[in-house]
Amino acid sequence: MARGSVRSKPAVAVLWAAVSAAACATASAQSAPSRGELLYTTHCVACHSTQLHWRERRQATDWGTLKAQVRHWQARVLLNWDEPDVIEVTRHLNDTIYRFPQTGDHRS
Ligand code: HEC
Repeated sequence: MARGSVRSKPAVAVLWAAVSAAACATASAQSAPSRGELLYTTHCVACHSTQLHWRERRQATDWGTLKAQVRHWQARVLLNWDEPDVIEVTRHLNDTIYRFPQTGDHRS
């Protein structure tokens, strides 16, 4: 059917380029959210926006206290995260917001 509607090659090429460029852009923009990011956005943003992490009197002052806060909050909402999850989320918050020198829990 519709033989006459076959697109001319250049048009197809342009369209294809546009589509794949868009696909690439999307893929790199969202490139695999880290586990920490997924955990945080799933369980933690309900109560606080990133605003909270920027406030003046922050309770997290270095890697250790940030991790302690993450541990505290996951326990508070009964998530029962294990150590690797606590570290992943700490890393996510640290990479995106706090930027403390990571003084512990280095990737092996
Ligand atoms: C029930 C609401 C609620 C949930 C759910 C919650 N938080 Fe919080 N979080 C707060 C409030 C309120 C504060 C500020 C506490 C204060 O000022 O004493 C806070 C503070 C923090 C801080 C310290 C910020 C700073 O630098 O002062 C961190 C880190 C944090 N939360 C991480 C998490 C993580 C990780 C999760 C998910 C496991 C989570 N929170 C889930 C309400 C929540």
